[in-house]
Amino acid sequence: MSHPTTMRRVAAIAAASLVAVALSLPAAQAGSRHHTLRSEAPRDLEVGSAVWGQRDLLGYDRRPPTQFQRILGAEFSSLTPENDMKWAEVHPEPDVYDFSGADAVMAFAKANRQEVRGHTLLWHSQNPQWVIDASATWTCEDARDVLEEHIRTVVGRYAGEIYEWDVANEIFQDEWDTGGVMLRTEANPFLKACAEDPVALIGDAFRWTHEADPEAVLFLNDYNAEGINTKTDAYYALAQELLADGVPLSGFGAQGHLSLQYGFDESMQANFERFAALGLKVAVTEADVRMPLDANGEPTAEQIALQAERYDAMLQACVNVAACTSFTVWGFDDARSWVPGVFPEGYATIMTEDFVKKPAYDALLETLTDATPGRAPRTPPGHHHHH
Ligand code: G3I
Repeated sequence: MSHPTTMRRVAAIAAASLVAVALSLPAAQAGSRHHTLRSEAPRDLEVGSAVWGQRDLLGYDRRPPTQFQRILGAEFSSLTPENDMKWAEVHPEPDVYDFSGADAVMAFAKANRQEVRGHTLLWHSQNPQWVIDASATWTCEDARDVLEEHIRTVVGRYAGEIYEWDVANEIFQDEWDTGGVMLRTEANPFLKACAEDPVALIGDAFRWTHEADPEAVLFLNDYNAEGINTKTDAYYALAQELLADGVPLSGFGAQGHLSLQYGFDESMQANFERFAALGLKVAVTEADVRMPLDANGEPTAEQIALQAERYDAMLQACVNVAACTSFTVWGFDDARSWVPGVFPEGYATIMTEDFVKKPAYDALLETLTDATPGRAPRTPPGHHHHH
C-alpha cells in the first residue's frame, strides 16, 4: 500500500536523481546519494580497493567513466596501486623510472576524492631483472644506496598525497618455509646483502620513507598475519625493537588473503589490539576470500555464505579496533582478481565478473552502516572528509 505523500516523495527523489545524472556529477558524489561502502563507513575508517592503474585507469575520462571506474569511484574512499608502485613497474632500469601507472592511480584518486595507500618499497617479489642481477655482487652498502635512492625518488614524488605506505612487505618467512619464521635474508635481495644486520636496513628504509614524506603512516605488511601466530609474534618483537630504536614505524597491516580451504583465526582482533597497544595504526590491506570451485567453476551456496562471514569477520576485527585506519579489498570484481592466475580457486572478490554484488558485499555494507560505537560519527551524507 503506498501512501500519496510517500509517492510524492519517491517522485521527488527520482526527479532529484535525474537532475544529478543530467548535471553529470562526479561518480563519487552521485554515488553518495545511494548507500555505498564509502558513504556508510565511519568517518575515521577508509574503505579501499586495489586497482591496477596501468591496466584499468590509463586514459581515464570522468565523462564517461567505464562501469568499472564508476563503481571504483562510488564505492571506495581509498585506492592501493595493485602493481603500479612496485619496483619492476616503476623502476625498470637503474636510471629509468616509469610513473605512468602510478600517476594514473593518483589522478583517478584525486578526481574521485580518494586517499591512496602506497605499495610497496622493500619486497622480495616483483623486483626488476637489473636488481636481481646486480644483487649477486652487492655489498650491504651497495644495497643501501640503491634502496635509499629508490625510496627518496618514489616516495618524494607523491609526498603529501599518500596517507599510508607499505614500506616493508612480506619480510618474514612462514613457519612452513625452510628455516621457519625468519627474516627473508635469502629471497629478498636487499635483506640478503645486509644479512649481518637486516633490522638496521629495515629501520633505515622506514627513516628514508619518513624523511621523504613525513605525513604518511608507515607500515609493515604481510599475509598470514591476521591472527596471533608465530609469524605475527615475530612482527610484534620486530616492531618493539624498531620502536625502541626510534624508527618511524607507525602501522601494521594484515593482508587478509583468506581461502575457504582453511579456517579463520578468531584472534585477529586481539592481534590488532596488541599492535595498537604499541601505538601503531593497524589495517586490513588486501582482503579477499578465495575458494575451490566445482567443475563448472561455480561456488556452492554454503561457500557463498561462508565467504560473506569471513569478509565480515575481517572487517569487524578492524571496526572494533579504533586504531584500524583502513580496510582494503584486493580488487572488487572477479574478472580482475589475481587469484585464478595463481591458485586453482576463484570467486574471491565481493562482486562477480558482471559487477553483481555478492552476499559478502552486503555483509560489509551492513557492518559499516552499524559501525558507529567506539568510532567517530559517520560522515553526513553529501560531505566528504579531507585529511
Ligand atoms: O611484469 C609484467 C609487465 O612488464 C607487463 O606490463 C604486464 C602485462 O600484463 O605483466 C607484468 O607482470 C605481471 C605483474 O603482476 C605486474 O607487475 C604478472 O604477470 C602478474 O602475475 C603480477 O601479479 C601480481 C602479483 O602481486 C605479483 O606478485 C598481482 O597482479 C598482484 O595482485 C599481486 O599482489 C600481491 C601483493 O602485492 C602483495 N601481497 C600478495 C598479493 C597477491 O599475490
